[in-house]
Amino acid sequence: MLVDQFCFSLDVSKLKEGSVVWQSPSNIALVKYWGKKEHQIPENTSISFTLNECKTITTLTFTKKKLTENFSFQVFLDEKPKPDFQPKISTFFKRIEAYLPFLKHYHFVIKTKNTFPHSSGIASSASGMSALALCLMSVEKLHNPEMTQEYFNKKASFLARLGSGSACRSIEGSLVVWGNHSEIEGSSELYGIKYPYQVHDNFNNFNDTILLVDKGEKQVSSTVGHNLMHGHPFAKNRFAQAEENISKLKSILASGDLNAFVELVESEALTLHAMMMTSLPYFILMKPNTLEIINKIWQFRNETGLPICFTLDAGANVHVLYPEKDEEKILKFINTELVAYCQNGHYICDKIGFGAKKQ
Ligand code: DP6
Repeated sequence: MLVDQFCFSLDVSKLKEGSVVWQSPSNIALVKYWGKKEHQIPENTSISFTLNECKTITTLTFTKKKLTENFSFQVFLDEKPKPDFQPKISTFFKRIEAYLPFLKHYHFVIKTKNTFPHSSGIASSASGMSALALCLMSVEKLHNPEMTQEYFNKKASFLARLGSGSACRSIEGSLVVWGNHSEIEGSSELYGIKYPYQVHDNFNNFNDTILLVDKGEKQVSSTVGHNLMHGHPFAKNRFAQAEENISKLKSILASGDLNAFVELVESEALTLHAMMMTSLPYFILMKPNTLEIINKIWQFRNETGLPICFTLDAGANVHVLYPEKDEEKILKFINTELVAYCQNGHYICDKIGFGAKKQ
């Protein structure tokens, strides 16, 4: 599958060396991507909030070399060599080679760091792969300076997707849609787009406090996880439900209905975990403390009427979403009632951001 709009030819003779730096955030899905086809094409549309503080900062240095058969690169995390990142990046380079014909003409040094602790159980693939894709797009732009900003972002998202699906939702915008949805104009399964409609003020300043319940390595890799949806007895219904949830969320985002938002977001999180519990092999990725937190959130919401809700990734950590205006009361609740369930009492306060930045 070759997507012509992102192919180009170039003269590599002019550019000898250089360096580019990008920072790119993580994102948290409201309607989840779980299940993919070949070539990193999602089985259903997903939508996410872009985070602000949890991000990867990547410096890519390139030096011209003789054209060789293999890619030539070194990876560093926090200034230390990180050979275990090598295979994932090699796979990424292979997938994107047809779109970046300069890849084998340079030696690359990739220096990367995350603003969140490596052992926090927060996946760095979305921020990491999007930061690298953006760096590579900056190299393409040096070869082809007249490209538009629109093309730059679209192709960055397209490339990021080939590194990690959810990474395509980390380039640009606070709310990003990925997947071909009939009610979202311009949406595509090839890249993420900024949510193109008016969003009610209720959703403009949202917080995401990430409760670190389990900082261990992921129990189920994303590749294994997505594969669980092949032949899953509920797959067809789940994919249809996600598309319906995107339509529902579109009305919710327009009307500002926070109760409906809470219901939809929590239902999506639990459905994601239900898919894992009902696949073969099956997994329970929630920990007892995840459930304790969920019950406390429900109790607090019943008592106060505040629009606080949770969502989950493919792990035990809990993302607590709420409007910034309720921050004081909700942080007090988190500090008195929820920290006890976090590993070493750790949590990360984040807000909804706007996307990646060049440095
Ligand atoms: C549960 O993007 O990590 O976070 O495409 O295999 O890299 P790959 O998967 P990945 O899957 C993320 C799944 C999720 C839900 C979501 O972010 O939509």
